[in-house]
Amino acid sequence: MATTAVILAAGLGTRMKSRLPKVLHPILGDPSLLWVLRTLPRDLNAAVIVVHHGREQVLAALESWRAQGLLPCPVTTVDQGEPLGTGHALQACIPELDRLGATRVVILCGDVPLTTPATVARLCASEALLLAMDLEEPGAYGRVLQHPDGRLAGLVEAKDATTEQRAVRRVNGGAYALPWPALRTALQELRNDNAQREYYLTDAVAAVARGQRVAVEVCAPEELAGMNSRMDQAALQASAQRRINAHWMAEGVTFLHPGDTLVGPRVTLAQDIVIDPCVRLEGACSFGEGCRIGQGTVVADSDVAEAVEIRPYCVVERTRVGAGAKVGPFARLREGTLLEPGVHVGNFVETKKAHLHRGAKANHLAYLGDAEIGEGTNVGAGVITCNYDGVNKHRTLIGRNVFIGSDTQLVAPVEIGDGALIGAGSTITKDVPPDALALSRVPQTSREGGAAAIRARQKQATRVS
Ligand code: UD1
Ligand code: CA
Repeated sequence: MATTAVILAAGLGTRMKSRLPKVLHPILGDPSLLWVLRTLPRDLNAAVIVVHHGREQVLAALESWRAQGLLPCPVTTVDQGEPLGTGHALQACIPELDRLGATRVVILCGDVPLTTPATVARLCASEALLLAMDLEEPGAYGRVLQHPDGRLAGLVEAKDATTEQRAVRRVNGGAYALPWPALRTALQELRNDNAQREYYLTDAVAAVARGQRVAVEVCAPEELAGMNSRMDQAALQASAQRRINAHWMAEGVTFLHPGDTLVGPRVTLAQDIVIDPCVRLEGACSFGEGCRIGQGTVVADSDVAEAVEIRPYCVVERTRVGAGAKVGPFARLREGTLLEPGVHVGNFVETKKAHLHRGAKANHLAYLGDAEIGEGTNVGAGVITCNYDGVNKHRTLIGRNVFIGSDTQLVAPVEIGDGALIGAGSTITKDVPPDALALSRVPQTSREGGAAAIRARQKQATRVS
């Protein structure tokens, strides 16, 4: 059975009032469309994404997800042209679905991000099924009409419904599984003689239901809630946050204030992690057992081993942190940082493409860019790797057990040998051999009584003026 998914993503999303296509708006850091793609089973034949508005941006996003291995199955796209309704979107897919040899299609909306993989798996395993939800205020959703035995009898859009039909609280979630030959036939007979002058997919679904049994499954409303406005986006984000945080709490993670902690869908947390308030973790992240993540810290696309302490107000991106390392408070670890086990990076330290070997320390006020820092080396306060000459970036290589005195500038490219000692306040422009002492200070002078003499002169000057 060649089940093929179709994801509708061509709409303009007018109510978002945005230059970004609606399906690319994020929920906990991941675009809505990526959430939808992630629910698809891996054994699916293919997924066809219907695009039009913001097509270039959607295609670029798909390309980057493909490169990162985030697509569960082969994905192709179809440009719908000017969108004339959900039925028109499916009509535009006819050649592609035929080419893919689809026998059954599963249709999802790119702006409905929180359907669970389990629900989508049931949909993919069904012959003919529609997902519905029961709402207190059914509003603008299409109404689901059922036969006494529960099978689908019809679908009517709110704008076309009679008063009696509008009172129906069971609404169409816009997710379907249908046999392709029957749906294909129904699509070719669609007309747009309705309130919105659109080609409704719902009319085609109702036509299929006249020829064969289409079941109706009622889901939790959160699973089928769509993102049509910024208010919807905030509500979806709150639902996702509750769901994800509850999951990790059940897995043994402590949240000091779950209501203001944002953990993205691609983050994994081991047990006995403690997360302080106002923490945001997003992208692909993993944290090992016993980590502590301090208040106000943001971590994206990083791997953090066990027993790491990230103190408050750190920003960590595309970094790997080894076991037992201590980071922050107020540290910034940028792309390509690698901290080996037991490294300490303290307050107001910025790193970029810096590899700190086991036990190295940079505890205060430093910039370490394009640098290799050997095992056990100590980087003093105010040390700066001058890695950029205005045109090119250069590397700084520092050996093991080196001591770099405070306020040293290391003008790259430069290499410091194992066991070297660099005096505070030095500007190092040449390589330093192993075990050497390097100093580049102007010799100090102290004039006896000099300060008193200056103050006396200053007082005199004030009296004259
Ligand atoms: C549709 C259903 C409605 C259901 C609701 C659930 C129809 C006619 N109505 O309503 O019964 O309750 O979804 O959310 O299907 N899209 C395209 N091309 C188009 C039009 C839409 O790709 O020409 C995409 C949109 O980008 C969106 C999805 O299809 O992702 C749904 O479209 P939208 O206009 O939001 O659906 P509704 O009219 O609200
Ligand atoms: Ca519409």
